[in-house]
Amino acid sequence: MLFSPAPKDSREDLYDREEELDSLLRFLNNPLGPLALILGLRRTGKTSLLKVALKEHEGLHLVIDLRKAEEQEKLTYRSFIELLQDAINNISSRKWRSQLLQVLRAVRGVEIHGFKVYLAWGGRNRVSLPFILEQLNELAAQTGTAAVLVFDEAQELARIAGYRIDRILAYAYDHLRHLKIILTGSKIGLLYRFIGRENPEAPLFGRATWDIELAYFTKQQSLEFLQRGFEQVNIKVDQQLLHQAVERLNGVPGWLTLFGYLSLQKPPKTALKQAERTAATLLANELENFLKLRPQARKRYLAILKAIAQQPGSWSQIKRAAEAILAEPIPPKNYTTLLHNLQDAGFIAKTPDNNYHLTDALLAKALAKIK
Ligand SMILES: Nc1ncnc2c1ncn2[C@@H]1O[C@H](COP(=O)(O)OP(=O)(O)O)[C@@H](O)[C@H]1O
Ligand SMILES: [Mg+2]
Repeated sequence: MLFSPAPKDSREDLYDREEELDSLLRFLNNPLGPLALILGLRRTGKTSLLKVALKEHEGLHLVIDLRKAEEQEKLTYRSFIELLQDAINNISSRKWRSQLLQVLRAVRGVEIHGFKVYLAWGGRNRVSLPFILEQLNELAAQTGTAAVLVFDEAQELARIAGYRIDRILAYAYDHLRHLKIILTGSKIGLLYRFIGRENPEAPLFGRATWDIELAYFTKQQSLEFLQRGFEQVNIKVDQQLLHQAVERLNGVPGWLTLFGYLSLQKPPKTALKQAERTAATLLANELENFLKLRPQARKRYLAILKAIAQQPGSWSQIKRAAEAILAEPIPPKNYTTLLHNLQDAGFIAKTPDNNYHLTDALLAKALAKIK
């Protein structure tokens, strides 16, 4: 069903995205390099695309879900190891899980009870991630498959205190032939920083990647998505309301899905209102997570975002408007950094003619909630 709210995991439930799915499956099934990136703003369907593709791929998949890390102010090595532990315990294929547990049995810092694995994060017994990856690679080699290692929302990896996981990924890239790595990222600028796309000093610099980009739906796609979704559940909706929804939800697949899902429980008109409210709350929450990490610049970030929400504009137009909100000047260098950070985190984007705008129009509603 198109309107089911969780990330999709089967082709029938995924609207459009044939090209992207085809590209990802080609990466998985052919020797097209060790590292793929799935890039797209929040709620464009990265996790869905990933799940659908992995379901159609034979090998062992280890999916490390870093969404949970976004809410943590500090990401410790311990929480990372816990996520890795969850990933191993959540391997969906029984066959692969038991084969992997078999190999891991002898590894330092790994304890197995029943069908569950426990990983030690500190002291002498600390597990070694490179060693685990070597085991995965070995297992894949023996079975003549590729093992897939996924970091969902991989930009968060840059925040693990005192741990350079980019070095380990570079090692895997160069030496572990049977391992394919997929990084997804909603904060595309931050993901590029993590892999050092423009930094020759970075361990992963210069390594070619297989890139897949997910955009928002166009107006026409949004309308078709809603029409098909409502048809599937046999609900008749007024065309005018559909157009209104397309206008307000701005092609964000996640919001369109939410609207459809809520319409199963209440009249579509009410559902649309509620979808917008929920979206604003979620966005406010995500913005708060961003601001929590940058408390000194909080006021300036908010002023810049509010200025852009009032009216998209150029570097200098937004600067003047933000300064008017603050009633004080922002030094140009500082302003540029703040603007870049908002852009790298995916809250704002620049059009080809150099105007800044909110990536999600509903962020304007979220801003109204934040003090
Ligand atoms: N192409 C699509 N077809 C149907 N539903 C989609 C599609 N893309 C996204 N969704 C829905 O939108 C929401 C967000 O998708 P998700 O895969 O979690 O996005 P991301 O990982 O990019 O944040 C989910 O409810 C998902 O079911
Ligand atoms: Mg996701």
